[in-house]
Amino acid sequence: VFDLPAFDDHEAVHIFNDEKTGMRAIIAIHSTHLGPAAGGCRYFQYADSEAALVDALRLSRGMSYKNALAGLPAGGGKAVLIKRNAFPKSEPILEALGSAINGLGGRYVTAEDVGMTDEDMTVISRRTRHVSGLPVAGDADAKKVGGNPGPWTAEGVFLGMRAAVRHRLGREGFKGIRVAVQGLGSVGRALAQKLAADGARLTVADIDEARAARLAGELRAQVVPPEEILAVEADVLAPCAMGAVLNEATIPDLNVQIIAGAANNQLQRPEDGERLKARDILYAPDYVVNAGGIINVMAEYLGDGDTDAVMARIVKIEDRVGEILARADSEGEATNLMADRMAREAIGRS
Ligand code: NAI
Repeated sequence: VFDLPAFDDHEAVHIFNDEKTGMRAIIAIHSTHLGPAAGGCRYFQYADSEAALVDALRLSRGMSYKNALAGLPAGGGKAVLIKRNAFPKSEPILEALGSAINGLGGRYVTAEDVGMTDEDMTVISRRTRHVSGLPVAGDADAKKVGGNPGPWTAEGVFLGMRAAVRHRLGREGFKGIRVAVQGLGSVGRALAQKLAADGARLTVADIDEARAARLAGELRAQVVPPEEILAVEADVLAPCAMGAVLNEATIPDLNVQIIAGAANNQLQRPEDGERLKARDILYAPDYVVNAGGIINVMAEYLGDGDTDAVMARIVKIEDRVGEILARADSEGEATNLMADRMAREAIGRS
């Protein structure tokens, strides 16, 4: 049975059905306290509508926390566009979603998430201006923000991971540091390239084995099957695929000292943060390290600065992670709970 009280702090949840196109979507608005509820749209096939709702609720709350700690003038929201076999993603479906978003009058701003591309954002933009992550037109101005946020997310994850390595291992940079990367998509691939360039020794995995093999060849990384990556012996594990990978079943088998990666909602439950702490594994909170993409998306949406300004904001992730890890240490609290507490203070929630 769906546990509504566990999600009793959302401002609004909208459910959309468009009979003509088959568009079915949920848009959850967690908070608009700091600005429009910003967060991407996920296109995914869910087991049932309850699973889609729970995902939208969890992801939108995560966006509130992420945007608040990134210092953005944005609240948190998220859309899920439900994948239906009878109605595959199409321009009419994306346009219908654009109209739905437009009907919210700017309270929600969308962008890419898993399963959505910058071309999809262009189609959505036919019906609403409350969309970001649009392709950058031409190369007239190389510093213009926009496009795929993945590489910006990777910049932030790299810096957040560096703060965690400094905090736990007392080391500057990645020379000789062993990092296991799960998922080599838009973020994981860019992250692996940056880590390799800085001297890290990589072990990588992707369910797309050809993709893993290609990248491993390029970076001289070791490849392992996807089912082995979470238990690989390394200094750092970087989850860059799907959420909920850190849980009661996987945590006992982890073989790293640090976790820092891009995936949203890496902990299946908040108490998994305590489990990691009990095993003395340092967890760099996901939404703090993976804020680079939304920082880029919001700069584009608000017309607020060029790529240099975006990078200047992303650079702050390193100190922010360092501060959260230090505060969690001094107060004896799990790092995820420390970050949640700071974020809730920032959005005016107790
Ligand atoms: P993507 O879809 O480009 O890449 C995901 C990759 O993970 C794919 O290569 C896929 O084959 C692989 N994968 C899926 N399940 C796997 C498994 N069990 N084991 C190994 N590999 C697996 O996604 P993207 O954009 O790189 O995002 C990765 C994660 O980071 C997602 O959880 C996303 O929500 C999160 N994130 C992404 C941001 C962005 O800017 N793209 C921003 C913030 C968070």
